[in-house]
Amino acid sequence: MKTKVSIALVITLTLITQAVKGQTSSYSKDQKINFKVDSLLKLMTVKEKIGQMNQYNGFWNVTGPSPKNGNAKKKYNHLKNGLVGSMLNVKGVKNVKAVQKIAVEETRLGIPLIIGFDVIHGYQTLAPIPLAEAASWDLDAIKNSASTAAAEAAAAGINWTFAPMVDISRDPRWGRVMEGAGEDPFLGSKIAEARVGGFQGDDLSAPNTIAACAKHFAAYGFSEAGKEYNTVDVGTSTLHNIVLPPFKAASDSGVKTMMNAFNELNGVPATGNTYLLRDILKGKWGFKGFVVSDWASIKEMVTWGYAKSNKDAARLAAIAGSDLDMESYAYVSELELLIKEGAVKERTIDEAVRRILTVKYELGLFDDPYRYCDSKREKKVINSKASHAAVLDMAKKSIVLLKNETQLLPLKKEGQTIALIGGLAADNNSPLGSWRLASKDSTAVSVLEGMKRYKGNTLVFEKGADVNTTETEFTREVKVNTTDKSGFPAAIAAAKKADVVVMVLGEHGFQSGEGRSRTELSLPGVQQELLEAVFKVNKNIVLVLNNGRPLTINWASENIPTIVEAWQLGSQTGNAVAEVLYGDYNPSGKLPITFPRNVGQIPIYYNHKNTGRPVNEQANVPDFVFWSHYGDVENTPLYPFGYGLSYTTFNYNAIKVSKKTYQLKEDVKVSCVLKNTGKLKGKEVAQLYIRDLTASVTRPVRELKGFKSVTLDPGASQTITFTLTENELGFYNNEGNYVVEPGMFEVFIGGSSQATLKSTFELVSK
Ligand code: BGC
Repeated sequence: MKTKVSIALVITLTLITQAVKGQTSSYSKDQKINFKVDSLLKLMTVKEKIGQMNQYNGFWNVTGPSPKNGNAKKKYNHLKNGLVGSMLNVKGVKNVKAVQKIAVEETRLGIPLIIGFDVIHGYQTLAPIPLAEAASWDLDAIKNSASTAAAEAAAAGINWTFAPMVDISRDPRWGRVMEGAGEDPFLGSKIAEARVGGFQGDDLSAPNTIAACAKHFAAYGFSEAGKEYNTVDVGTSTLHNIVLPPFKAASDSGVKTMMNAFNELNGVPATGNTYLLRDILKGKWGFKGFVVSDWASIKEMVTWGYAKSNKDAARLAAIAGSDLDMESYAYVSELELLIKEGAVKERTIDEAVRRILTVKYELGLFDDPYRYCDSKREKKVINSKASHAAVLDMAKKSIVLLKNETQLLPLKKEGQTIALIGGLAADNNSPLGSWRLASKDSTAVSVLEGMKRYKGNTLVFEKGADVNTTETEFTREVKVNTTDKSGFPAAIAAAKKADVVVMVLGEHGFQSGEGRSRTELSLPGVQQELLEAVFKVNKNIVLVLNNGRPLTINWASENIPTIVEAWQLGSQTGNAVAEVLYGDYNPSGKLPITFPRNVGQIPIYYNHKNTGRPVNEQANVPDFVFWSHYGDVENTPLYPFGYGLSYTTFNYNAIKVSKKTYQLKEDVKVSCVLKNTGKLKGKEVAQLYIRDLTASVTRPVRELKGFKSVTLDPGASQTITFTLTENELGFYNNEGNYVVEPGMFEVFIGGSSQATLKSTFELVSK
């Protein structure tokens, strides 16, 4: 595509190219980029450098431009004057081109913008919410889902996503638990790598890849009591062993950017946290990309009571290592003076700008600022058949079968009357979740539509009740229906006549996500009553759950014979659910997060510590209470981490550790035999957990350290072998250093974190 490029940019690039040719013919690609960045930095004024550290939200009719208010006008002037380095929420080739044109053709140096966007689980074609994707434990599928999202976003002019969110969370009250990979740092790290690899591909300058952003650095998932934007108080050991590993994995796999978190950590906001950003991220880990603040998180340091003013906040954030200011206006308005006063060194901003420019070079934006702006590609790629095929594949793999006691599933394909009940069953909107900035509302395939494609049965739909009252859905705030039961009689009548009742119940897509924390995790509104009313007339119920977080479904778990966890599965929801219910896809998902029995158990997670009083060792003493437990609920969860069934059954046997003792750096090999003992072909995610029995810092009762997907025909068996290296056998001590210590280990293999097949080995130092 031919587009006019500014004379400024041409001169800038020519100068740099000549310099590069003359002096760098033997340089590697990275060295050339470094050289170009340094050359460009030398041409920049302090103001222009600060401009690169400023990011604005899309703000006016870009094709105009016609500023609607003073702020928009200010932003527009800043853009024209080279005081904006990045924009977010500008989407579509036409709009991106319009802002890019201003940056490239109207500013003195013509430095292109980097265009960011929240491509969280897809751009326009939506994959399942990230928590659901994590339930697949399928790293190839997750990577493929991210590259599908990247291809669509890149075709719409975007070159940077604010994903993946790699925050570990143990608190399903937190609304953003839907956006992460669940509670486990090992699984979370593998998924972080897969997602970064999927977004960024092998060549960042290719037109179908975009820069990724691991967020929110760090510990946002530990917001106290699951309340959004709350303070965080995590101990050193939890910080190093649970919170940081997925960020390190993202950094090690070359993620180009990281985002600050809204929270504070030990009284210091993450955005101004030198320990996190300078000591750990840019120091110890050698992270080469740049750090973007979260939305207005620089100026929020004033509200936190950490910075005295916006100026102080700008100083603290820049010194701490936050490179790009998202919507605080703090850098653009304060940094110049701070530099003049000597409060911030020019070399501090040089470092930040160097990082930002490097990513722009790597994206190929200097070679062609419009390389992501091809309207033909936009039409072809977005919402394409290929995208839909990829998200359907991901959606099927994300479903978890929680219970199938009476083998109601898979459904018979002929001769049945099936009553489909629940407002969510016919909902095209809720399955898209709350992160859908580029999607059109109500475009998901509903479960009703998916099931209608199976024509052999009689399908009767009755909504029974909606989750939400429709008027408020438009505002993106779900007002739960707690009163309207007018649909109950028709639903009960339909259930009476049916062979099988499929009930789709749970949360609306807008009940989880940012700003959507909850304290009650039972089925919202009148849905529990509906479930019980239907159960009275027909016990053959398949409960299909829709939710962005674990729910407390004790009654259902005790009474309903069949439960399918179907989350919010994105654009292809109905087709995925129908294929699983009818057995065209045998479910293989495993929970990436623990389901509690009640909210009071939270935080409940599998990799907890043993405590000094783990069990009632005095069980034979009546009324002995002095052990670690509650008086009103048992210690176990409703469904544990790693749990999920199949339409077939699997047996684990013959665990073998190759030796009884190993030297500290030796690899440990553990194997077992997995057999498909059922009647159908199926896929099982075999999981390996270790327990380090005694260490200088107490270790969890179990830690996931390996998993493998194995597909087996009925009756077939396979030996599966795991290798534990020093990377799996150590932990971070309270100085934040990784150590492997000698001692006894237990090792478990099985289909969930409650695996019972066990062996032991010892690590010894010579
Ligand atoms: C969120 C980020 C997001 C940013 C830009 C913030 O409110 O915390 O995760 O990327 O907005 O939309």
